Amino acid sequence: MAGGPDSTQRWATMVVLVALGTAVTEATNPGVVFRITQKGLEYVRQQGVARLQEELEKMELPSFSGSFKIKYLGKGDYNFYSLVIRGVQLPSSQIRLLPNEGLALSVTNANAKISGKWKARKNFIKTSGNFDLSVEGISIAAGLKLSCDPTSGHATFTCSKCSNHINSVRVHVSGSHLGWLIQLFHKKIESSLQNTMSSKICQVVTSSVSSKLKPFFQTMPVTAKIDNVAGIDYSLLAPPTATTETLDGQLKGEFFSLAHRSPPPFAPPALAFPTDHDHMVYLGLSDYFFNTAALVYQQAGVLNLVLRDSMIPKKSKFRLTTKFFGTLIPQVAKMFPNMSMQLHIRVSSPPHLTVSPTGLACAPALEAQAFAVLPNSSLAPLFLLDLNTNLSVEVGAMSDRLVGELSLDKLLLQLRHSDIGPFSVELLQAIMNYVVPTSVLPKVNEKLQKGFPLPLPARIQLFNLVLHSYQNFLLFGADVDYS
Ligand SMILES: *[C@@H]1O[C@H](CO)[C@@H](O)[C@H](O)[C@H]1NC(C)=O
Ligand SMILES: *[C@@H]1O[C@H](CO)[C@@H](O)[C@H](O)[C@H]1NC(C)=O
Ligand SMILES: *[C@@H]1O[C@H](CO)[C@@H](O)[C@H](O)[C@H]1NC(C)=O
Repeated sequence: MAGGPDSTQRWATMVVLVALGTAVTEATNPGVVFRITQKGLEYVRQQGVARLQEELEKMELPSFSGSFKIKYLGKGDYNFYSLVIRGVQLPSSQIRLLPNEGLALSVTNANAKISGKWKARKNFIKTSGNFDLSVEGISIAAGLKLSCDPTSGHATFTCSKCSNHINSVRVHVSGSHLGWLIQLFHKKIESSLQNTMSSKICQVVTSSVSSKLKPFFQTMPVTAKIDNVAGIDYSLLAPPTATTETLDGQLKGEFFSLAHRSPPPFAPPALAFPTDHDHMVYLGLSDYFFNTAALVYQQAGVLNLVLRDSMIPKKSKFRLTTKFFGTLIPQVAKMFPNMSMQLHIRVSSPPHLTVSPTGLACAPALEAQAFAVLPNSSLAPLFLLDLNTNLSVEVGAMSDRLVGELSLDKLLLQLRHSDIGPFSVELLQAIMNYVVPTSVLPKVNEKLQKGFPLPLPARIQLFNLVLHSYQNFLLFGADVDYS
């Protein structure tokens, strides 16, 4: 025989290596992770079962007919028509996670009430009336498979299997003295109805999944445009995964430039997701998410600000004038008497944001070029400062967006270049300590308060929001309301 135990072992090793190789090449960490907990699934079940009930109540049942033959009376025909579902009750249902597969929905003990009309004919005798049907002990089992549309990055759900069973159908006929006749062959009517309904139920389940659930997930933004500069890529990296406790989805979670998208020069870190389960959904936002934002906006050159005297609070004793600066650096007033000044502030390299259990921090490198404004409006350069800042970042979530606010922890000045001769930069420290938090940060915070959209499907609102910071990521927990 070709190949002994040795070669089997080699094969096994190769298989393991191939598997490892794939794992390594495919391991791209997500920038954003979403998780649906058991509590969230319970909400999904309630909503899903309510929709399913509506759909089952809309189910159309065909009329049916047959013939009968009775001793001494001979043959006749009957017809059941105008069948209308009066109500469907789904009193008990369950949704379960099938690890690595998806979800299983089961409904038990459901029942339906149906009414309609019947007519029967035997020779010249015609008779008709109404009937009521009760369908008892309906059970439905359906499997939902989760996948990911690789071209659009959307989550997709398909009904992978469906089966149902009906315990009993009972018909009550009224409206004619020949009603007893119908009762004679009720068994036939009942089994015929049982078959019809049974073949319809799974059609309704399958079409509800494709007509209700699929479009719902397609409303989840895969890319969200934020302004003229940036968009966020929220596409799924892989099909959502079911574990025994949660349903998780890994999203790219990356800001990109609308003008020219290029991959960022850094990679998303691995996220150690905690096992929190008090809320329906959790959203983990990696520092990668925030840092791609900082990169895109810095490279677009929009993190600039021209500060004029008119932007300094009126009550301030600090003014952006050569007269005021002359009290600290006399040559400013001497060389440029009685002029106003401008500070051109820009972020000189992409700010790096760190997320840790103690919070969010950012230490952007800023530079500020001071100019005197000449009588003919030309700008005369005075000096260039490096502003090494330490900011803390507060992040909050509204019902559908993420908002932020920066505050200044520390500011350290360095003189990089002077056009007006040497001077001691410490003299300007007090001015900058005042100007940055009162005039620069409010402008930035105005933008951050407009916020960034969260990847939520249409008509989903979040409430009971909680926020914790962990190493490398922020974790939001929330409950969901679907209106
Ligand atoms: C300073 O300039 C303003 C107008 O820009 C003028 O009204 C004022 O008289 C000037 N003061 C001095 C001392 O030159
Ligand atoms: C403005 O005035 C300055 C000095 O008075 C001069 O050097 C400069 O060329 C002028 N700029 C313009 C645009 O006229
Ligand atoms: C900002 O914080 C970092 C780390 O805490 C520190 O190394 C740095 O010196 C600080 N910068 C300033 C300007 O205080």
